[in-house]
Amino acid sequence: MPSPDNASSEPPRGGRVPESVRWVGGEDGHLEILDQTALPSRRDYVVCRDVPTVIEAIRMLRVRGAPAIGIAGAYGLVVAAGEALQRNLAPDAARSHVLAQAEDVATARPTAVNLRWAVERSLAVLASLPAESPAALLAGVLLAEARSIHDEDRRLCAAIGRHGASVLPEGGVLTHCNTGALATGGDGTALAAITTAWDQGRRFEIFADETRPLLQGARLTAWELVERGIPVTVLVDAAAAHLMKSGRVSSVIVGADRITANGDVANKIGTYGLAVLAEAHRIPFLVAAPSSTFDLSLSSGDDIPIEERSPEEVKKPLGVQAAPEGAAAANPAFDVTPARLIRGIVTEHGVIAPVTRETIAEMLMRQP
Ligand code: MRU
Repeated sequence: MPSPDNASSEPPRGGRVPESVRWVGGEDGHLEILDQTALPSRRDYVVCRDVPTVIEAIRMLRVRGAPAIGIAGAYGLVVAAGEALQRNLAPDAARSHVLAQAEDVATARPTAVNLRWAVERSLAVLASLPAESPAALLAGVLLAEARSIHDEDRRLCAAIGRHGASVLPEGGVLTHCNTGALATGGDGTALAAITTAWDQGRRFEIFADETRPLLQGARLTAWELVERGIPVTVLVDAAAAHLMKSGRVSSVIVGADRITANGDVANKIGTYGLAVLAEAHRIPFLVAAPSSTFDLSLSSGDDIPIEERSPEEVKKPLGVQAAPEGAAAANPAFDVTPARLIRGIVTEHGVIAPVTRETIAEMLMRQP
């Protein structure tokens, strides 16, 4: 396994949240990934000059969040073309090399469809080039496409933030996992709805589930909000029911890793439980995601592959032995929330409500 090469390590200073993914230089440049496993203690960047390092960063959640892994995957193909360039591969060998690496990148994590979506989009551009195109041309074209996926995501996040803020009801809001700048190329999806409403001058309590086992809510969402100077309250996942019953939570908004044609939503493990709780307490349950998270090839959430991660993440969180080694541990990284529990899905085009096959198909045909 390649080990991260820390380009910089400095304590958090406050202010804006740093970019989770950045390309340095031209087509012979390299990818830098903010190592989210080190947050909130350190801001380390992993320097990726080869594809195995990109794949390791995606698998180990150094970069995570559906849109962000799509962006990292697109830049990963530029890294692959850079390898071909360095090895002086002839045009056909260079193209074969990129195609072989592309499959490994696309399958680095199975649940978020954005990863395969971004890789396929880049490969479609590659396919339009003449067979005799040299490695440098492949790299240049792939870089332009990765940059355009990245820039587009920034714009989509802004639109999702605006639409999401407009439907967030008054009162406390609960979110799960991390759906902010760290998880996307812009300000986020569900978290952008919350921060946009805040920036508009609305004031409400923001609750962040800690999100076991890897604590994306406590380590990342709370960190983003603190960095932005927005008050946040972290809770253990098991406290959500109590807070809802006590009336402190008026809505729940989460992101998504894959949304099927009927509106079922795969998202971080624990999301389904929150949706059931929200229904029991008559609290609106909202989802926010860009159109790249929809997978209309799947009819329902039953068909979504759910990533099962290492039992060690559950038994030894953050290196602390929390269960005996002799115990088994289940560690599904995602669950599926059925469409009937979802009040609305916020996209860059607007809000899909009610959530049905028809309303989804109709909204996705709109221009942003
Ligand atoms: O395992 P992770 O941290 O990649 O899971 C991320 C989530 O489940 C997010 O909620 C989802 O990707 C939406 S990101 C805007």
